[in-house]
Amino acid sequence: MELIGESLRVHLLGVGGNKKVEQAVGNVLLDLATVAKTIASEVNRAGLAGIIGNVNHRNVHGEQVQKLDVYANDLIVASLRASGSVCGMASEEAEDIIASSAIGENSEYVVCFDPLDGSSNIDVNVSIGTIFSIYKRKTRSGGPAILDDFLQPGCNQVAAGYFVYGTSTMFVYTAGDGVHGFTLEPTIGEFRLSHPRIKTPERGKIYSCNEGHSATWDEGTRVYVESLKTRSAGTGRPYSGRYVGSFVADFHRNLLKGGIFLYPADRRDPKRPAEGKLRLMYECNPLAFIQEQAGGVAVEIDKRMLEIVPRGIHHRVALVIGSRIDVEEYLACHAQHV
Ligand code: AHG
Ligand code: MN
Ligand code: MN
Repeated sequence: MELIGESLRVHLLGVGGNKKVEQAVGNVLLDLATVAKTIASEVNRAGLAGIIGNVNHRNVHGEQVQKLDVYANDLIVASLRASGSVCGMASEEAEDIIASSAIGENSEYVVCFDPLDGSSNIDVNVSIGTIFSIYKRKTRSGGPAILDDFLQPGCNQVAAGYFVYGTSTMFVYTAGDGVHGFTLEPTIGEFRLSHPRIKTPERGKIYSCNEGHSATWDEGTRVYVESLKTRSAGTGRPYSGRYVGSFVADFHRNLLKGGIFLYPADRRDPKRPAEGKLRLMYECNPLAFIQEQAGGVAVEIDKRMLEIVPRGIHHRVALVIGSRIDVEEYLACHAQHV
């Protein structure tokens, strides 16, 4: 039984010894929580710390890298190497997998992460976050992780979570036994349980998507989103549009209040095939695991997100994620327009 206010460390050990998660997985979660506190403090003073703005560098995705992207990435890599809690890492900010330290090679776990999600919002004081996903390695321990250890479907995740640096700093995770939310108590630097066993409403009243891209969406998605603006959503009112451009912030709001988030494939670049923007390994799979554990649904078109076999660590997917009834209605509408 979770106790409101219990610290993350106590929670992970489990009250009365019934451990919440495998000790070694708990160590990774505690390492990430420690780093997140430092990132949070830098985020909260970004305008003063000389880390807003961008470095003169584009990442593997061709995206302008912000100073805080690099700062967060380097901090996570250094911390996980020092603790040896993982045998390898995959980061949005690194083209290839990142080796851990020698002591880390005895770990059974690898982690994928988006060190700073919502980078375009850093300089304008809109909530951003960090997203991660933990897998058990497939190869024998005692050596560096290899790509095969990472390219697993999301249903193999042993734990996943995110930190959201907003009005407060929160940590939300699942290890397969429900979704639990912690709020950072800044005076003592401790994450304390504030949202035990989060369950998402089975239908929401919010839709989140960047309608600026809708001209090149598929017909089914366009018809569905238009339908939200007129029909009553069980409440006699059309849905509200809410989109801040940080996936982790849009997701967190919808998780608690209910609703649907869509980042469909689009053809803004006629030279490229229609594809989604969000990455499977360190954005969509971790949040899909949380969404399903909280009672929601996450798909790429009509495929369950957690069953997609990754083609690479930066594999992009089209995503629809949210309250069960909302995603089911999206799928029904989409099926009529393929
Ligand atoms: P990141 O900052 O890690 O690159 O992620 C940004 C993502 C995601 O957070 C957000 O939902 C999406 O980009 C916003 O994209 P658009 O600006 O195209 O709407
Ligand atoms: Mn991101
Ligand atoms: Mn990012």
